[in-house]
Amino acid sequence: MIQIALLGFGVVGSGTAEVLTENRALIEKRFGEAFNIRYILDLREFPDHPLGGRVVHSIDPILADPEIRVVAEMMGGSHPAYEFTKAALEAGKSVVTSNKEVVAHYGAELLATAREHGVSYLFEASVGGGIPIIRPLRDDLAPNEILSVSGILNGTTNYILTKMKKEGTDFSLALKEAQSLGYAETDPTADIEGLDAARKIVILAALAFGVLISPSEISVQGITGITAEQTAAADALGCAVKLIGHTERVGGRVLALVAPHLVPASSPIHHVEGVFNGILVNADMLGKTFFYGAGAGKLPTASAVVSDILNAAAGNVRLPEWTPAAPDRIADPADRVCRRAFLFKGCARCAEATKTYFGYENFLLRDGAFLFISRPMSGREADAAVAACGKELCWALPVLD
Ligand code: HSE
Repeated sequence: MIQIALLGFGVVGSGTAEVLTENRALIEKRFGEAFNIRYILDLREFPDHPLGGRVVHSIDPILADPEIRVVAEMMGGSHPAYEFTKAALEAGKSVVTSNKEVVAHYGAELLATAREHGVSYLFEASVGGGIPIIRPLRDDLAPNEILSVSGILNGTTNYILTKMKKEGTDFSLALKEAQSLGYAETDPTADIEGLDAARKIVILAALAFGVLISPSEISVQGITGITAEQTAAADALGCAVKLIGHTERVGGRVLALVAPHLVPASSPIHHVEGVFNGILVNADMLGKTFFYGAGAGKLPTASAVVSDILNAAAGNVRLPEWTPAAPDRIADPADRVCRRAFLFKGCARCAEATKTYFGYENFLLRDGAFLFISRPMSGREADAAVAACGKELCWALPVLD
C-alpha cells in the first residue's frame, strides 16, 4: 500500500482525491499496488467530505510518518509551500506539485535537495494543467536540442480573449466566469497581467535550456491593454491575438518573455480557444510538436498530479539539473528577431513611404490608419525603423510564426 499525503484541499487537492477515488480500480490495476490518502493538510475542516477525518492542521505528523512515501503539494503560493516541500524532501519523501510559483522560484534548489535524498520532485501539473508537457520535454525530447518553446500557458486569459472575440462578452464578466469555473488564480491579476504565464515559461525554459530564470527578470505583458480594435485588426490580417509565453536561445543566452502576439491561422496555436492551452516545441531532430489540452480546471490538473504520484511511487525518475540563471545568461528581449505587426496613423501614400523601413509585402487601410506585418526584425531594429519613418505609431505587436 502506497501511503500519500495531500497538502491543500482546494480545487486541485480535492480533484486529486476525486481522481484517486473515482479511478481507483484502474489506477491500482495499472500500477500493481494500492494507494491510500492518509493525511490531508488544510487550515479548514471538511466534515461533510468522506475523507474529512483525515484532515490535519500541521505538517508534523506527515513528516514524522515513515510510511508516507509521496506528498502532493497543491497549496498555491510560495510560503509555506516551499518550506513544507523542502522539509518533506529532506524527510525522504517524494514531492509532486501543481504549484508553479514554487517551481519557478525554488525549482533548482528543490531538485537538488530531491537528488541528495534519493527521492523525486515532480511538477507535471505546474504547466499546461492536465497536458503532458513537462515529462515529454524532460524525457522524450532528451535526444534533441530544443530550439524554442512557445504557447498559450494561461487558461483564464485565453478563456477571456475567446469570450470577448466570439461572444463580445465584457472583460470583467468573462473574468468572473473564469473565476467561478475554478480556472483563475486566487488573485486573478496574476492571470491577466501575465505573471502566471511568466512562472510557467521560466519552468519550460529551464527544462529546455537548463537555467532557471526568476519570473521577475523576464519581460512580462498581460492582456489588460488589448483593445477590441486590435482584435479586429488582427482578424483583418488573418491572425488572432493570443497571450504567448515564449523561450528560445538568442546569441548564446536564454530569452524568455510573455506578451500578447498576433498568431497567424497557419499556426496550431491560433486555433486554441477557451480554457485550453497549446504549446509548440521546436526541436532540432524532431521538428515541431504541438501539445494541446485543458490548461486549467479541477480534474484535468488533478490528472497530472496523480500521474506524478504514480511516477514518484514507482521511483527511477531522472531529475533534471537546473542552474539559477546568472544575469549574463539572460537575453535582452530587444534582440529577439521576429515578424511584427504595426498600425500607424496615415493614408496609402504614407504606407508606401514606410515600406522601405519595414520590408512588408502588403498593407491594409483602416479608419485613417494603415496596418501591416513587417519582415523579421529585432526589437531594436523595429524601434529604429519607427523613429526613422516619422509616422505616428498606434501600436505594434510581435507575430508568432
Ligand atoms: N490560473 C491558471 C490558468 C490555472 O488560468 O491557467 C492553471 O495553472
